[in-house]
Amino acid sequence: TPFVPGEGPLSGRHVLVTAGPTWEPIDPVRYIANRSSGKQGFAIAAAAARAGARVTLVAGPVYLPTPPGVDRIDVESALDMAEAVKQSLPADIGVMVAAVADWRPVSVAGQKLKKRGSAPPALLLTENPDILATVASRPDRPPLLIGFAAETNDVIKYATDKRKRKGADWIIANDVSGDVMGGDANAVHIVRGDDVISLPEMPKEEVAHLLVERMIDAFAS
Ligand code: CTP
Ligand code: CA
Repeated sequence: TPFVPGEGPLSGRHVLVTAGPTWEPIDPVRYIANRSSGKQGFAIAAAAARAGARVTLVAGPVYLPTPPGVDRIDVESALDMAEAVKQSLPADIGVMVAAVADWRPVSVAGQKLKKRGSAPPALLLTENPDILATVASRPDRPPLLIGFAAETNDVIKYATDKRKRKGADWIIANDVSGDVMGGDANAVHIVRGDDVISLPEMPKEEVAHLLVERMIDAFAS
């Protein structure tokens, strides 16, 4: 079907998506990163735009083209992502797919750290703000707020706990024991309260399409 911006079942809705990793700077040349490719988040942004939504995509550092009809804000660190998300609210649907770094260096060295010929420097870390939990507690919280959870064992239990702890409506849980991170396929469980829908492994575009169909249903009912 041809793509017509703003036309479709999510017409008039604003969908805010975070995607990709964050980079936490150590000094001017080094950072802490993770293996998120951004593919799943970008696919969701693309699918939401195809469904007619206005889409804001807050993207960590990834090498992916901006999907048609999507407004993209590029960020590097978790603190910058948190600020860009805040600036992008309000939204009807929030989908926090980003693999936000849990920790950042306490201080960023102004100059490149040098080998001193002795012990390596200690890297002191501090916790980043939880963007999903922060959005969940705001007065302008999106009426439908969705988080992701990449887990390696006891996937559904961890996801169920996370949903409650963070105040999300749904948690999309994926088992990242295999090569999901960076790969093109994903097998997810949609955890909404006690009801869990498990989808078989499929391309990330297909996962995105099915999730957007669920979002459309949620707004129709
Ligand atoms: N998230 C976020 N901000 C953070 C950390 C996570 O917004 N600082 C969001 C992610 O985008 C995702 C959800 O919270 O939607 C779950 O992320 P996850 O890393 O699985 O949760 P954590 O609370 O960081 O727990 P863990 O110790 O398992 O990493
Ligand atoms: Ca985490």
